[in-house]
Amino acid sequence: MKEIYTLADLENWGEESTESGLPIRLGVLGEPIEHSLSPQMQNAALESCGLQMRLARFAIGPRDLGQALKLFARHHFVGLSLTVPDKIAVLNFLDEVDENAWAIGAVNAVRFQGGRLYGYNTDGAGISDAIRSGVLGDASLSRWPVLLLGAGGASRAIARQCALEGCPKLFLSNRTRERAEKLAAEISKVNEATTVTVVDQEPGALRQALTGARLVINATNVGLRPDDQSLISRDSLTRDHFVYDTIYNPARTALLAEAEAAGAVFANGLTMLLYQGARAFELWFDRKAPIDAMRAALDVT
Ligand code: ATR
Repeated sequence: MKEIYTLADLENWGEESTESGLPIRLGVLGEPIEHSLSPQMQNAALESCGLQMRLARFAIGPRDLGQALKLFARHHFVGLSLTVPDKIAVLNFLDEVDENAWAIGAVNAVRFQGGRLYGYNTDGAGISDAIRSGVLGDASLSRWPVLLLGAGGASRAIARQCALEGCPKLFLSNRTRERAEKLAAEISKVNEATTVTVVDQEPGALRQALTGARLVINATNVGLRPDDQSLISRDSLTRDHFVYDTIYNPARTALLAEAEAAGAVFANGLTMLLYQGARAFELWFDRKAPIDAMRAALDVT
């Protein structure tokens, strides 16, 4: 089994299998994809359930997605996970998209069934499960005011989840303010009880929002690179804040370092990865995911 497969590999797909002879019937797609922890997590789940197949990484971007999906179907794949930058482009190639994924405008899990392709989005439920698992103490999407950084694919899923769960107040802050405004207008329609406020992405405005918000969620790319500065500084945070960064690699972003310095409760995105993956597994196989095996494979404590 290769570390990464390409479209060329799919075009010449023969008896591609793992070292133990199990066929590859699941894939995680994105570009770049080498850092994905999905194989580690999902292969532990497959093994734990005695399912005779494995998942591999595929470096496939939006341009090759249509062709790749035809080939996956031809080679009897069961399902796919999608990551950046494929989550939106995939919408063009699916036979059915579930209501939640449609409203978010992005798909991160695909199931092949009866010659048809079904799309879902498990990111919102993934962060919800993560927070309910207690990774951030008693933090809650349904009871606490939330400051959400970002307005891209991941933020759209999280913002919708906050509204679905009845979050009383949602502050949205994005580098490109118009995107946050567009998202705010959509989210206001999901639940009238959720008050949505757009906040400029600059220190003064963020500090002000943090006097009202208790839970902070970063869903921007800021923090992925080691030299990225935190969007929020320690003096805007207190011990009463709870900070979740959807980034898990690096494990400690600049934002989480600021949270720690302020005495806030904080966690990285490994638990969101875990729970969105568990939900994808359940969609692929119509059975409960072996969460303990997946958790152990990711070394989530
Ligand atoms: P994803 O699907 O992971 O959410 P995305 O849709 O590309 O990815 O969204 C990336 C998010 O990170 C966006 O909110 C983006 O802000 P813009 O809408 O202004 O592009 C945000 N982002 C990326 N680089 C950033 C930076 N250097 N500073 C602040 N925000 C940044």
